[in-house]
Amino acid sequence: MTALSPAQAVAVIGAGTMGAGIVQVAATAGHDVYIFDTSGEAIDKGIAQIEKFLARSVTKGRMDEAERGAILGRIHRCHKLEDLAPAKLVIEAIVENIDIKRSVFSQLEDILDEDAILASNTSSISITEIAAKLKRPERMVGMHFFNPAPIMKLVEIIHGLVTDKQVADITFATAEAWGKKVVHAKSTPGFIVNRVARPFYSEALRILQEGGADIPTIDACIREAGGFRMGPFELMDLIGNDINFSVTQSVYNAYFQEPRYRPSLIQQEQVAAGRFGRKSGYGYYNYAEGVEKPAPHTAAPGPAPVEVTVFGENALISPLARLAKEAGITVNSDLEQDVPDYQPGFLVDNILLLLSDGTTATELTSVMPYEVVTFDLALDYNAASRIAIAKGDQVSEESLAVAAGFFQAIGKQVSVIDDCPGLIVMRIVAMLANEGSDAVYQGVTTAEGVDIAMMNGVNYPKGPMQWAEDIGLTHIRDVLGNLQRFYGEDRYRTSPLLRRATFGTERLL
Ligand code: NAI
Repeated sequence: MTALSPAQAVAVIGAGTMGAGIVQVAATAGHDVYIFDTSGEAIDKGIAQIEKFLARSVTKGRMDEAERGAILGRIHRCHKLEDLAPAKLVIEAIVENIDIKRSVFSQLEDILDEDAILASNTSSISITEIAAKLKRPERMVGMHFFNPAPIMKLVEIIHGLVTDKQVADITFATAEAWGKKVVHAKSTPGFIVNRVARPFYSEALRILQEGGADIPTIDACIREAGGFRMGPFELMDLIGNDINFSVTQSVYNAYFQEPRYRPSLIQQEQVAAGRFGRKSGYGYYNYAEGVEKPAPHTAAPGPAPVEVTVFGENALISPLARLAKEAGITVNSDLEQDVPDYQPGFLVDNILLLLSDGTTATELTSVMPYEVVTFDLALDYNAASRIAIAKGDQVSEESLAVAAGFFQAIGKQVSVIDDCPGLIVMRIVAMLANEGSDAVYQGVTTAEGVDIAMMNGVNYPKGPMQWAEDIGLTHIRDVLGNLQRFYGEDRYRTSPLLRRATFGTERLL
């Protein structure tokens, strides 16, 4: 399907944070862009924001003065909706209120050509519902950009129940021509990103609530082992706890109180206290001048092992065995004793170090002839600078130090956390993959769509579907199954799509 040509005009309604960014994207792609806002001051501010951004691009050598002038020359301020008449695509980015959005779109239908595309940048309102009372509801589509729109690559194209496929395809191709990574999504609460990302926050909050680990330790493990740019608490403080809490509540209620999305009392308290995050100077962290960020838990040096045995070695953990060899540790790969199905892992001085499969170390120790310490997932064990470990309640502090000593000997910092099932990175990644699988299962998007969305909408280091395949779908299913068994909660039930794949192809993509 072909994109709109740059010769065809675009209009943007709402000149706030998102509207101004979208105007810039479309004008940079060569379109004449008509911008309207009920507040003239908002248009002034929006255009000033664009001018500032483009001036910085010139300073950085990304564009020249002539190009900057040409982009600004293509932006046209409008004083009334009627001025948007020449536009073939109108993108609405006004206040998140269905009645106001509906009224704007129904006025537009009388102003624009019949074949114009009506797009909404809404984050949380059903496209089907916005379109319902229009004369031509099939011309309505969602075009969901991410903040800041000129920088974030993703655009979700949202199909309402009656959206014409051709309309969605032209909108898709147009966003692609604007340099975006684009995915199709069915109009369902949270679309892709705001739904699939929920466990990133909610599982971190659960771990905190259960006393599994403190805030800086969870954040450090997610960054330094998980490879994410920011930890969940750092990110919630950046987004604003008020906004993050309201998105969570809206998704939770929109899915009729689905337990996976249940909001956290901890976050509610933060919001009640006005601790919104960076913008209010205090959130999970204190942003006042001179206040140092608290350090994550980091274990004291333990004894370096001379010899270890690796078992169940696979692509995931083999970098750990290689690092151990490089550190001068003798690595045996045959375990003579009768060890468990709970692979993979290492035997170090008669202490079993097991990659978490969602079973607690306490339970594992109770059924094995060894003391068990579980260790967390890393995006890449070569690159990870920190690994979380947890000991069974029966395991001595000396044995824990031996386990820590192994990871320290191969150059990792160790965070000891409580015996929390699934630890931190494994638990969050398993839940992200489960949520992505369920979105695919329910026909919201494809597995590729989930990965593109999460990598480009929220900068995940790897798409959750690919990540689950790399870990092994059976392992992910086990993590989820063990979490469900431990908590007895429906929240951790495995998506039927994921479960089915473990019996067959072992693939999601
Ligand atoms: P904003 O508050 O910065 O801007 C909204 C603008 O719309 C204001 O300038 C306001 O004067 C104008 N406006 C309100 N009613 C209007 C009307 N009837 N006609 C014309 N202009 C009107 O809001 P923001 O953050 O830019 O959000 C806009 C939309 O984008 C919302 O639907 C929101 O859900 C969605 N969105 C927001 C994202 C974000 O991170 N802020 C991300 C993706 C989508």
